[in-house]
Amino acid sequence: MNPELIPKATAARNAAIAPYSNFKVGAALETTNGEIFTGCNIENSSYGLTVCAERIALWKALSEGARNFRAIAVVTDSAEQTSPCGACRQLLWEYCGDITVYIHSLRGLTNAYQLAALLPIPFDAHNLKGNSGTDA
Ligand code: THU
Repeated sequence: MNPELIPKATAARNAAIAPYSNFKVGAALETTNGEIFTGCNIENSSYGLTVCAERIALWKALSEGARNFRAIAVVTDSAEQTSPCGACRQLLWEYCGDITVYIHSLRGLTNAYQLAALLPIPFDAHNLKGNSGTDA
């Protein structure tokens, strides 16, 4: 694992805007070239508009032209591990494929998973290819 990944996600967490949940999250997404894009959660008074740290890191990376990814670290200060929400798993799968997901708590816990294990039997572009398109 890139030794910078968790420190960068930890630093990104400091910028989190989480006045409603008080649950700050940092993320760091690594490309296959070793470049790292970070994100933090940004909440909104219309709660549903909140964006997770993982998605901010992903949008930053994609909007800067990055396309090939190796790993993401997610950092919280939680007693239990915080794995990415379902929406983020779907988006990470779509754009990153089967990357390694490092889940780290500032209280000392680190676990690693493959995204395919966190999102079994995914829906993705290959499903659309199996559609005849004649019943629309
Ligand atoms: N959150 C993330 O940023 N990433 C996760 O993996 C789980 C949840 C954020 C969304 C919201 O701002 C807060 O954590 C509580 O759900």
